[in-house]
Amino acid sequence: MLPSAQKNKSPYILISNWKMYLTYKESCAWAAEQFENIGRMCQETNTSFVICPSYDALASIAPHAQRYGLLLGAQDCSAYKAGAYTSQVSASSLAQVGCDYCIIGHSETRQQYTLSSADITQKIKQLLDNNITPVVCIGETQQEYVQQETIDVLIQQLEPLVPALKESKKVAYIAYEPIWSIGTGNMPSSEHLKKVYDALAQFCKTAHIKPICFIYGGSIDETNVTRIINISHIQGILVGKASTDFQKIKTIVSLLKKDYSSLA
Ligand code: PGA
Repeated sequence: MLPSAQKNKSPYILISNWKMYLTYKESCAWAAEQFENIGRMCQETNTSFVICPSYDALASIAPHAQRYGLLLGAQDCSAYKAGAYTSQVSASSLAQVGCDYCIIGHSETRQQYTLSSADITQKIKQLLDNNITPVVCIGETQQEYVQQETIDVLIQQLEPLVPALKESKKVAYIAYEPIWSIGTGNMPSSEHLKKVYDALAQFCKTAHIKPICFIYGGSIDETNVTRIINISHIQGILVGKASTDFQKIKTIVSLLKKDYSSLA
């Protein structure tokens, strides 16, 4: 079965999470030197490319992204509108610098800030109030994976978010990111992914969450992306480390193209 994004020829989404790999200057140089090229390739491959640099680089990168048809995303946002929240950045500020997307609930932020479902719900609400699309990350630990608890854990993470996701008129982006896969080079088998996405699709259908876009993230690079994009339900990828390497990301985007043309 073909992934539905490809059947409908709607853009495949590639979310590039730069984490804290690049400094401000490196991020700006990357944008100035590579965005034109990336933008052209994405047009050819019908790919929506979302760049998520660290907060400091957002405003400087925004004009380059806009010029070449790339979208801007943040790596997190505050659960609050404004106030005495040292170190946090509000969704309204993200909207003002031109963010279209925002990753929330990434396991690295869940671990750093011990986020509750209520916090993530609040973040979703803040983003939607500011017309930014939330990309909600969910994932299980290595131990939960080994004990075959993945689907239960994912549903537990998603269930409290249903009311907020249902209120949204935007596409709900749900990124499955196994914690044990992020940055390790270890990836789930295709069988595991099929089971997980089937269960997520069923859950979202029953909960009346739609429209929906399922994403996979965790150790994606140029050697494994083709396997991932051919799994049904997966309509986008979230790429961390490999997305900071121009040659790797170029190859990844070109493989999206190869897949499209072979399916046309
Ligand atoms: P990785 O990160 O591609 O470096 O594994 C993915 C992510 O954390 O989103």
